[in-house]
Amino acid sequence: MIENQAKFIKYIEEHKSDLVKTLAEAVAIPSVSGDASYRPQVRKMGEWLEKQFQEAGAKTSTHELGKQTLDGKEIDLPPVVYAQIGDDSSKKTVLVYGHYDVQPALKSDGWNTEPFKLEEDQKTGCLYGRGSTDDKGPILGWLYVLLAHKSLGIPLPVNLKFCFEGMEESGSVGLEDFVAKEAKGLFSGVDAVCISDNYWLGTVKPCVTHGLRGIAYFKLEIKGPARDLHSGVFGGMVHEPMTDLIKIMSSFVSPEGKILIPGINEQVAELTDKERKVYDEMDFSISDVDNATGSSTTVSDHKPDVLMARMRYPSLSLHGVEGAFAEPGSKTVIPARVVGKFSIRLVPDMQPQKVVDAVKKHVEEQFKQLNSKNTMNISADPPGKPWLADPNHWNYEAAFKATQDIYGVKPDLTREGGSIPITLTFADKLDKNVLLLPMGRSDDGAHSTNEKLDTSNYIKGTELLGSYLYEVSAITN
Ligand code: BES
Ligand code: ZN
Repeated sequence: MIENQAKFIKYIEEHKSDLVKTLAEAVAIPSVSGDASYRPQVRKMGEWLEKQFQEAGAKTSTHELGKQTLDGKEIDLPPVVYAQIGDDSSKKTVLVYGHYDVQPALKSDGWNTEPFKLEEDQKTGCLYGRGSTDDKGPILGWLYVLLAHKSLGIPLPVNLKFCFEGMEESGSVGLEDFVAKEAKGLFSGVDAVCISDNYWLGTVKPCVTHGLRGIAYFKLEIKGPARDLHSGVFGGMVHEPMTDLIKIMSSFVSPEGKILIPGINEQVAELTDKERKVYDEMDFSISDVDNATGSSTTVSDHKPDVLMARMRYPSLSLHGVEGAFAEPGSKTVIPARVVGKFSIRLVPDMQPQKVVDAVKKHVEEQFKQLNSKNTMNISADPPGKPWLADPNHWNYEAAFKATQDIYGVKPDLTREGGSIPITLTFADKLDKNVLLLPMGRSDDGAHSTNEKLDTSNYIKGTELLGSYLYEVSAITN
């Protein structure tokens, strides 16, 4: 390890409480992108972040992405926060992406602590709060890479460009066009891309990730009566929207997770023997899933099948029903309009448009069979394609070496089940290798109640991000 890298690591070890304090400030801003009433908070988070990077020595700018219609209101999209530090033509340039928006969270969802107040629990060694792992911890890890070098008065080993968005949790609206437009502008001269917005496979061993699933998200609306009805007065007399919806939605997927819509599974790339072996050998056990879910509910007890279900096969999840009676008590209502929400995670070689077409055709056929007098409308959000990168690139070599530097082990090479819509855009529009280098663990509970980041992952993860930059600079080619 070279001297400056060692100094950097020592600095991070000695400034743990500063890192925690800054994360607490970030978590305290409820930057929920999916709810129009929180939009000012998302923008506030962007401003806060820009200021932090400015103070850490970066040149920054914000870029408006236009407007969107959300919850029936037309509102401004949150801006991209761009930052840049270093302009030395003898050094490599790494582009870092992260997101400063978060998923919604309410204490009443079942949190043990206030979701937007970071709580450090000395017993568990964890930092609890919405966004701690997804994705505020990792973006502050990058911030502290800058702060450490500035305080120590040592140069960064590479030039850095940062692209932070505030809409990732809501489909990255507006970002694709921005990246395409800036490929030869702000993002010119980039040699490789690094994203820290994913998790280890389990709770002990780090990983490096070279694939993500895409996503197609659907809304299925059924409406009939002009208003909600009393089931004692109208029950049995009218076609009920919810009955139609449940019938259609129950035709999508088997309880074991097999997608039943024709034309979907047929698009999935064949599994090769070589690929199968990778899953057989991956360091993972069913109990990792059980610990993360707090249950024993895996669809199979066979490790490779469970892993492949997440990493290399599509899945269909039913998310919710807007308009359905969902409060406590026994209200005897017939909802007049219901909207079922579901999504399909996409893998190579699935074509998003072909998936959308297959789903629409299936839903229309199912609805026709019901002979219902209600009306049905099926719509899809703009889908995100799956992404797969070449792990034999020097970008991955640097990540492997950095993991060895910090954790003393060779990381697993994984694919992930989640989606980060912009990943493929970076790969395609910049024509550069993209790497996913996680900070958190599989049981962090991103999107869930009691989201956390282990303090050790925050600290070591920050050391990992900085060390990765040193390993990038050490590669000669
Ligand atoms: N950090 C996640 C992506 C992720 C999830 C990586 C699971 C690895 C494992 C990201 O913030 C996220 O949740 N993305 C959304 C994107 C969607 C709204 C288009 C997702 O995957 O649901
Ligand atoms: Zn995320």
